[in-house]
Amino acid sequence: MTPAATDQIDEQVAGLSLYNLLDPEVLANPYPLYAKLRSEDPVHWDPFLHAWVVTRYDDVVQVLHKFQADRTPTPELLEAMGAPELSEIATVMVRQMLFMDAAAHTRIRQLASYAFTPNRIKVLRDHIQSIAERLIANIDRKGFDMIAEFAVPLPAIVTAEMLGVPAEDYRQLKDWSFTFSEMLGNFQHNPDRSDAVLAALRGMIEYFRNAIVQQKENPREGLVRSFMLAEHNGDRFSEEEIVANCILTMVGGLETTTNLIGNGVLTLLRQPELMQQLRDDPSLIPGAVEELLRFESPSQHTARLAPTDVVLGGKQIKQRQAVIAVMAAANRDPERFPEPDRVDFTRTPNRHVAFGWGAHFCFGAALARMEGQIAFELISQKLPNLRMADGAELEWRDNLGLRGLRELRVTAE
Ligand code: HEM
Repeated sequence: MTPAATDQIDEQVAGLSLYNLLDPEVLANPYPLYAKLRSEDPVHWDPFLHAWVVTRYDDVVQVLHKFQADRTPTPELLEAMGAPELSEIATVMVRQMLFMDAAAHTRIRQLASYAFTPNRIKVLRDHIQSIAERLIANIDRKGFDMIAEFAVPLPAIVTAEMLGVPAEDYRQLKDWSFTFSEMLGNFQHNPDRSDAVLAALRGMIEYFRNAIVQQKENPREGLVRSFMLAEHNGDRFSEEEIVANCILTMVGGLETTTNLIGNGVLTLLRQPELMQQLRDDPSLIPGAVEELLRFESPSQHTARLAPTDVVLGGKQIKQRQAVIAVMAAANRDPERFPEPDRVDFTRTPNRHVAFGWGAHFCFGAALARMEGQIAFELISQKLPNLRMADGAELEWRDNLGLRGLRELRVTAE
């Protein structure tokens, strides 16, 4: 191959890398990059990430369904990667259901499902409604930040209630979760942030250990207590498992639900006819939440390892190679969703993968849907004059996986 030809290929490959998300313009609108990947190289070897990037709906489903979720690096590997400080994090991750395969995953998920029943979610409904109404009532309609004043506190207060810890702790829980999620949503560890991420982890571990001790004396209804009581054929959670899965449930639920609300409101403000549809016909709300999840997926991608040597989309993937399944790209695959870049609240079917697929399908999906429905109903009904503030600038969080705005300045006068 001539040097010129090599350069051309390098340029082409570089153009398809998910690393382009580091460019703020691409981060603001990643969908053309995803479309390019889907049409030019749907199972793409990204040499910069050293991973396969999968963008077609059918392939993403296959990866989520069949590939290995157990991907926590061992302390030895972290040492070799020059990031030994992360082994403390890995110790917690190995106990979290998201990073396990059957039968370890089935065990934890089953025990957890005793703790998070449909009945418990129904009880939370009234609380969510009143928290959301209170937040809207306290808003300064002349001008406010939809993220800081609604999209952040609603899921944070609800999460505290769900866990059964004091609601007034929500700011602290949110701070830890926000810092820790820097690591969850990004491809590469940023050593400059190690201290902050580790401090957040240690804070959460201590917090949940204390919560367990307190709940032995003064039980409160919620996930911590339910995890303590969960039992299946004599099998129970260890204390370390309770702590690890409380952290996962908290971080997994907080950032994503904030971004569902923030990204969804932005879509409605950019296309006011959509907001009008919700005002005129609130029965559209459940379909709207699904469509907003599809259109601007809060969790854009996840990772797996190939379980064996396997062919996917005509490419030979080797056992244990990393594979990034881009749910946000699958959710705009025209083979699956006709006119994928159009928002249609009556889209049927709408089997998006914003909550994942298969064994790891989001554990909190029912709660997230309920929060989303309450939030969009209240916003569309109670804030009839909602619009973007003059001169408002949109800045996306530099988290490449958990897609969300830093702030969304609006007025509702
Ligand atoms: C709009 C909001 C949410 C979105 C978009 C979302 C998205 C996801 C996705 C994509 C996965 C699968 C990841 C994978 O397979 O690698 C997942 C798993 C999970 N989610 Fe959510 N999530 C949301 C809200 C919540 C809430 C509110 C909770 C807490 C109650 C929660 C707890 C979890 C847990 C514990 C898992 C791991 C399940 C397992 O491994 O079996 N999520 N979520």
